[in-house]
Amino acid sequence: MAALIGRATGQALLRAQNGLFVQQANLSFKETIARLSRGKKIAAGVLGTVTAGAIGLGVALQASVLASELELHPPAYPWTHNGAFSSFDHASLRRGYQVYKEVCAACHSMKYMAYRELVNTIFTEDEAKKEAEQITVIDGPDDEGKMFERPGKLSDYFPSPYANDEAAKAANNGAYPPDLTYIVSARHGGEDYIFSLLTSYCDPPAGIEMREGLYFNPYFNGGAIAMAQSIFNEVVTYDDGTNPSASQLAKDVSAFLKFASEPEHDERKRMAMKAILGFSVLFVTVYYYKRHKWASLKSRKIVFRPKK
Ligand code: HEC
Repeated sequence: MAALIGRATGQALLRAQNGLFVQQANLSFKETIARLSRGKKIAAGVLGTVTAGAIGLGVALQASVLASELELHPPAYPWTHNGAFSSFDHASLRRGYQVYKEVCAACHSMKYMAYRELVNTIFTEDEAKKEAEQITVIDGPDDEGKMFERPGKLSDYFPSPYANDEAAKAANNGAYPPDLTYIVSARHGGEDYIFSLLTSYCDPPAGIEMREGLYFNPYFNGGAIAMAQSIFNEVVTYDDGTNPSASQLAKDVSAFLKFASEPEHDERKRMAMKAILGFSVLFVTVYYYKRHKWASLKSRKIVFRPKK
């Protein structure tokens, strides 16, 4: 490859030296313009103006689009799970689950999340079983063809607060509270966005009237969200004695929602660590083996001796 490039540039240099390139390069911009005919000069002028105008218009449009975006972009927060090899803060996940259950679950379903996901991540197996037993599940049909109620099991999914989407909308002024299982993956900014959204309710800017049932939130697309503020200091009491300030609650529930979106997160990073370790050992051996095998081929010399 290097030889190829070397040869190509060498040839170019040779050609430049025989006068052709040198002569052209010596022509200044002014001289080039002077040599053009009148028609060409006008055409070049028009082309230049049009191009500059188009670029200017593009820049202006871009700027005005940005100005109309009133919502803020969430800052990047230092989550414990940020690093390539960092895991979730499991105590925080456990608290976050509590916040979801006691606050958000009143309106939001998490219907793709099963109790078995909580085993060894948020609860021990016994704790998770007890947690699942608190819900009532309609199962069946039984031997007589009737549906029956039973306490939840680890294989059951989280219960939904509303019977269907229409009931959910009817109860929330027509706005549908989205399922929260994969919400972190479904929004730009992920858990940073959820945290910012939950903690940033404030009065609308002067001159902006909010419609009945809408609340101002600078992080929500459009600024007007149909979800009222639900996180306040001490709306939840933590078992582990952590101070339940609004920002603590929001942080814990955001981490929990991240966990719900990527329950395999910790396992994935652990696998990556193992793979990197394993493959780096493999790489060294394979590289050495390759050198060894190719040594005789690479160091030989083939000479062509034409017959005299
Ligand atoms: C009183 C009912 C209610 C409660 C309680 C509630 N929400 Fe909501 N939430 C809604 C509704 C309604 C919407 C839809 C808002 C919209 O589309 O304007 C929503 C939307 C959202 C969204 C989506 C925003 C977006 O970008 O589309 C997120 C995330 C969210 N809620 C998180 C939470 C979390 C976390 C909690 C618990 C701390 C919670 N919500 C508690 C009713 C609720």
